[in-house]
Amino acid sequence: MTIWSGVHDYTEHMRSAIEAALDANPHPNPRVGSIVLDPSGSVVGRGIHREAGEPHSEQAAIAEAGDAARGGTLIVTLEPCNHHGRTPPCTEAILDAGIETVVIGAMDPDTRVAGGGVERLREAGVEVTLGLLSDEVEVMDPAYFHHRRTGRPRVTLKAAMTLDGQVAARDGTSQWITSIEAREDGHRLRAEADAVMVGAGTVLADDPELTVRLPGYHGRQPIPVVIAGKRPFPNELRVIERNAVVFAPSERQLDTEVVVVESGARVDLDAALRTLGDRGIVDLLVEGGPILADGLLEARLIDRCVFYLGAKLAAGVGTPPFNGIFRTLEDAIEIQIQDVRPIGPDVRVEATLVAKEAA
Ligand SMILES: NC(=O)c1ccc[n+]([C@@H]2O[C@H](COP(=O)([O-])OP(=O)(O)OC[C@H]3O[C@@H](n4cnc5c(N)ncnc54)[C@H](OP(=O)(O)O)[C@@H]3O)[C@@H](O)[C@H]2O)c1
Repeated sequence: MTIWSGVHDYTEHMRSAIEAALDANPHPNPRVGSIVLDPSGSVVGRGIHREAGEPHSEQAAIAEAGDAARGGTLIVTLEPCNHHGRTPPCTEAILDAGIETVVIGAMDPDTRVAGGGVERLREAGVEVTLGLLSDEVEVMDPAYFHHRRTGRPRVTLKAAMTLDGQVAARDGTSQWITSIEAREDGHRLRAEADAVMVGAGTVLADDPELTVRLPGYHGRQPIPVVIAGKRPFPNELRVIERNAVVFAPSERQLDTEVVVVESGARVDLDAALRTLGDRGIVDLLVEGGPILADGLLEARLIDRCVFYLGAKLAAGVGTPPFNGIFRTLEDAIEIQIQDVRPIGPDVRVEATLVAKEAA
């Protein structure tokens, strides 16, 4: 929704604030960029939010502008906060600086902000306009906006399959369907995720580690998450040794945390995702297998697919990426292909699905 109603055209400044913000990775916070103009319209301050815990972009831009901000304009990609978090409220910094006009890209859906920043500024007599390039702002951090709106992490389903659509051959073998280049890209997806989820079948078949293994990578490792069913599994599995969070339909003894979220003898996947969302998991990567993928798709809980199509033909009925929940084409899920590109000898396809609330 665009509620932009400004008189001056600040589009180029907003675009420049977006471009600057893209340089930072303040995850799990959103990327935010700010520009301060003096009363004559000259740029006197710029700021981006570099890292969680570091000053917000408004504060950085105002600090750079100093006294020149008085009577000026702030252009900011996301609604300024009005609450004490790790940093003081940006609305107070804006008022203290004597800024008279604030132009905002997107409203912040975080319940601690959600219009409160705008209200505080307007109450204090600041002219506020909203919605300039809001779609471009949201594209910078789709997982953040999704998490704050739904309470669940943004869910990306990743699968590596043969060109004829099999994630494992008839005998169950699946390593390796894709090239080293595609597998490295999969590790980059893990590096962007807060947690990586798999079903019990995949854990028992492959004993995956679910770690980021890229040359020279020293960043954080995603939390392993397992959806368990009826079968017992041993503590010697790698994900248990890495203290995976295991969701199960009933209590079980394991050397790691077990969270019971039951729905008719199955794990309630929506409740599991909400539990992860409550724990601050904003971006979740699901690496199969097919039964877990079915459950998530059936509940319309998949937001994005990244499929690697390996340059191989399994030429036999093996394991497809979904176990099969729909019978007719009428049930097929509409997707939007966002990106298709070669990766080594393989192909990477990225698509988004219509969110549950909108479906
Ligand atoms: N190429 C790839 O990208 C890729 C990725 C992943 C897996 N795979 C392959 O896929 C095969 C495994 O297939 P799979 O379908 O068995 O894997 P899966 O989806 O990982 O595991 C299925 C099992 O997980 C448990 N489960 C899933 N959702 C549940 C829910 N909502 N509630 C309770 N339990 C739930 C159940 O365990 P119980 O049976 O114990 O009840 C179920 O049988 C392996 O061969 C693996 O190599 C390939």
